This record gives sequence, structure tokens and C-alpha cells, in this order.
Amino acid sequence: MLIILETARLVMREWRTEDFDPFHAMNRDPYVRQFYADHNSVQQSRDFLARAKERDLRDGYFFQPIIEKASNSFIGYVGLSKIDFEAAFTGSTEIGWMLRHDNWGKGYATKMAGALIDHAFAVLELAEVIAFTIPINARSRRVMEKLGMNHEEDEGFEHPMVPEGHPYRFQVLYRKRRTASGVPVTKTAA
Ligand SMILES: CC(C)(COP(=O)(O)OP(=O)(O)OC[C@H]1O[C@@H](n2cnc3c(N)ncnc32)[C@H](O)[C@@H]1OP(=O)(O)O)[C@@H](O)C(=O)NCCC(=O)NCCS
Repeated sequence: MLIILETARLVMREWRTEDFDPFHAMNRDPYVRQFYADHNSVQQSRDFLARAKERDLRDGYFFQPIIEKASNSFIGYVGLSKIDFEAAFTGSTEIGWMLRHDNWGKGYATKMAGALIDHAFAVLELAEVIAFTIPINARSRRVMEKLGMNHEEDEGFEHPMVPEGHPYRFQVLYRKRRTASGVPVTKTAA
């Protein structure tokens, strides 16, 4: 049960064989990967796409490719992923994103992630969506803020998939909740 979404400039669709090369090239770009603890191997890119199939069968969602309509090209991914590592929020659903560097700064991440959050609340009826990153990833944090996600100062955590002692192990957590009425909760100025 894949999620298909369309905005004025973008489409989110299923993974296709032709996506592998641009997907892996993006994963290997040191600039794109500057806030990740690892360097992505071909096997890791393959494992990611294998996991996409498994998670789609299990949960009905995972990270999915974004295509720019004007160029008909793969520009990155956005998606939802159920957290199955050990944390205070195990079982919650994460929203995450990665774009090819030449497509940063066009509002694409915020646009498609916003459409996906709407879908997560209205169609999937998730109660909450979370996001996390390392404190210095200001672009990604700005996307979270623009999406109306709330950051609680005391909700940082040690990411168990990042090696102990690594400077990227500590991450900040953002949340956006759906209310009983289905209307998302956003932080208002005090
Ligand atoms: C995070 C990422 C998807 C954002 O993509 P993007 O297309 O630049 O995002 P958007 O254009 O929608 O929004 C970016 C916002 O960050 C702002 N920004 C850019 N550089 C910034 C900086 N150094 N500090 C603070 N904000 C910054 C932009 O101005 C924009 O906000 P604005 O609309 O208020 O001006 C992209 O940078 C990326 O793929 N990064 C690598 C992968 C990654 O780190 N993923 C997140 C892991 S949690």
C-alpha cells in the first residue's frame, strides 16, 4: 500500500529500478552526508531499498522517491518510518528526508514533507509524527520548524544506531501531534 502524493512541482511515488543510480550517488555525496555518522556503501543503498519493500508490506509506508515534474528526474526521498530501535519513542513514526544537493533551497523538502504529514494524519490516522537530527543540522531543523513541529529542550536522546562516543550520537527530537479532531497541534507564541 504505497503512498502516492503530488504537489505543484513534485511527485512522490514507488521505488523503480532506474532510481538506484541517482539514489546511490546522492547517498555517496559527502556534502549531502555531512551530518551522518557513516559513509554509504553500495550494499547499504541496496539494503535500504530491500527494507523499503519489507516496511511497505509491514507498515504500508517507508521512505519513497521524489521526482521533480519539470525535469522528470529523481531528486531525493521523503518518507515515514516506524521506529523499531530501542528509545523512549519506539513504535512512533518518524518523518525524514534527503535531497540531492543541487535541489536544496527550493522549498522541496518542506513542501513534500508537509503533504506527507497531512496524509499521515488524515489518511493513515497516525496520532503523531516525530523527526530527529543532530543539533548542528540547521537546515533540517528549519524544515522541522516550518512544518510546525515542536522541539522540547529536554527530549534529546542518544541514537542507539550511532556508535558510542561518536559526536553525532546525541540528537534533538521534534514532534507534531494530531488532535482528536484531526487538526494538527502547532506551537503558539507564549
Ligand atoms: C535537510 C534538507 C532535506 C533540506 O532541503 P531543502 O530543500 O534545502 O529544504 P527547504 O528549502 O524546504 O527548507 C530549508 C530551510 O532551511 C533554511 N536554511 C538553509 N541553510 C540554513 C542554515 N545554515 N541555518 C538555518 N537555516 C538554513 C532555508 O533558508 C530554508 O528555510 P526558509 O524557507 O525559512 O528560508 C537537505 O538539506 C538535505 O537533503 N540534507 C542532507 C540530508 C539530511 O541532513 N537529512 C536530514 C537528516 S535528519
